[in-house]
Amino acid sequence: MVPIDSPTKIKSAKGKLGVLMPGLGAVSTTFVAGTLAIRNGISSPIGSLTQMGTLRLGKRTDNREVNIKDFVPITELDDLVFGGWDIFEDNCYEAAINAGVIDKELLDQVKDELSLIKPMKAVFDKKFVKKLDGIYVKSVKGHRARIEALRQDIQNFRKSNNVERLVMIWCGSTEVYQEPKGSVYDTLDSFEKALDNDESSIAPSILYAYAAIKEGIPYANGAPNLSVDFPAMHSLASKEGVPIAGKDFKTGQTLMKTILAPGFKARRIGIDGWFSTNILGNRDGEVLDDPESFKTKEVSKLGVLEEILEPEKYPDLYGDLYHKVRINYYPPRGDNKEGWDNIDIKGWLGYPMQIKVDFLCRDSILAAPIVLDLALFLDLAKRSGMHGIQEWLSFYFKSPMCKPDLYPMHDLFAQKVKLENTLRHLMGETLITHLGLDYYYDEE
Ligand SMILES: NC(=O)c1ccc[n+]([C@@H]2O[C@H](COP(=O)([O-])OP(=O)(O)OC[C@H]3O[C@@H](n4cnc5c(N)ncnc54)[C@H](O)[C@@H]3O)[C@@H](O)[C@H]2O)c1
Repeated sequence: MVPIDSPTKIKSAKGKLGVLMPGLGAVSTTFVAGTLAIRNGISSPIGSLTQMGTLRLGKRTDNREVNIKDFVPITELDDLVFGGWDIFEDNCYEAAINAGVIDKELLDQVKDELSLIKPMKAVFDKKFVKKLDGIYVKSVKGHRARIEALRQDIQNFRKSNNVERLVMIWCGSTEVYQEPKGSVYDTLDSFEKALDNDESSIAPSILYAYAAIKEGIPYANGAPNLSVDFPAMHSLASKEGVPIAGKDFKTGQTLMKTILAPGFKARRIGIDGWFSTNILGNRDGEVLDDPESFKTKEVSKLGVLEEILEPEKYPDLYGDLYHKVRINYYPPRGDNKEGWDNIDIKGWLGYPMQIKVDFLCRDSILAAPIVLDLALFLDLAKRSGMHGIQEWLSFYFKSPMCKPDLYPMHDLFAQKVKLENTLRHLMGETLITHLGLDYYYDEE
C-alpha cells in the first residue's frame, strides 16, 4: 500500500547499497569517481540535494531547519558500492580518463578504487544505437535468455559485494526513438508474451529494466529511451513493489528552460519563439548525431515548454510559440557542451524583447549529482514501501514519468516543493503550503 495517510515505517538504511549502472561512460564514471573523491574528503558534493540540501520543518517561527541527509534515513556515502555493464571492457578509471570530464590529477587520487570497478558484459543490439559497435557483449540470444543472464549478474554482484540492497540507474546511450504503440506494451500479459516471442521492437534498456524489477530493484532511466515508461512496465513495478522513475536527466539547457519559463509564465510575459542549439563532442554527442537517437532526445526536450506554458490555455501569450532544438556533434568540445538559447519574448502592448543565454556547461558534472540523489532517494522509496512511478522525483528529469491520466509537472520549483513535501510526509511532518495567513490572523 502506498503510504498516503500516515507516517511511514521506513526500514533501516544500514548495510551496503549497490548502485548498478548499464553504461559506464561519462556520466556514470563522473558520478562514481566524484563519490569516491567526496568520501575520501578530497572534493565536495556540489549539486546534490541529498548531501547539501536543507529543509524547513514546521512554522517559520519554529526555526527548525534540518539537513536532508540527517532528516530522512538515507544510505551513507561510505556504504555505496558501484557496478555496471558496458559494451567496452575499460574499467572505471580507464573509462573516466577517456571521458575526459575529471582531471587526471583528481582521478589518480582514487585510481585504485576506480580501477577495481570493471564492467560486466552488456546486452546490446546495434539496431538501437547505430553509432556504436558493441564488442564486450553477452553471447546469449533471445530476450528471455538475456534477461536471465542479467539477473544472474545481479545476483552474483549482490553476493560478491555483500550488499543489502540495490538500485539500477540507466546511464547507457540513448536508443533510437520508439513510441510504445500497439498492444505489445499495453498490458503485462501482452508484453510478457512479446518477450517470449522475441518481439523485435523490445530494446536492450527494456531488458535491463525488466531484469531489475524482477529482482526487486528500483530502476531509474537517465536517458529518454522507452525503458520503463509504458503501461506494462508500470504494472510490473507495482506488482513487484518496486519504485521506478524517469526519464532523461534534467541537466544543461532543459534545466535552464524549466527555471526560466515558469518565471515568464508567472508574470504573464508572452513568448513567440525559443531557439535552442548545442554543440558537444562526447560519445553521447556522437550517438545523438544519428537522427533516430536524436529524435528520442528531441521529443524529450521539446515537451517541456508546451507543458509549462500551456499554449492552448493562453493563446495570446504562447499560441504562436515556435520552439526549435538542435544538437550538433562537434568533437573539439568533448564533454564541455555549449548551449545557446535565443528567446523572443513580448511584454505590455505586445512590445518585443529578446533574451540570449549562452550556457558553457559541463554535461556530466551536472548529471553526476543527479545519479547520486536518485540512487539514494529510490532506495529510500523502496524502504518506505513506495512502488510504481515516483512522480516526486520529477525534479531530476526532462520528461518526468507520471500516470497516463495526469500531465507531467515540469516547473522546477513546483517539482522542488513536491519533493520536499514528500520527504516531510514520509517523516510524519506537517506539509508546507506557503499560505502563511496563520502568522497574521491566528491571534485575533
Ligand atoms: N548531462 C548529461 O550528460 C545527460 C543528460 C541527460 C541525459 N543523459 C543521457 O545519459 C546517458 C549517458 O550519457 P553519457 O554522457 O555518459 O554517455 P556516454 O556515451 O559517455 O556513456 C554511455 C555508455 O553506455 C554504453 N552503452 C551503450 N549501450 C549499452 C548497453 N546496451 N548496455 C551497456 N552499456 C551500453 C556506451 O558504450 C557508453 O560507454 C545518455 O543516454 C545521455 O543521453 C546525459
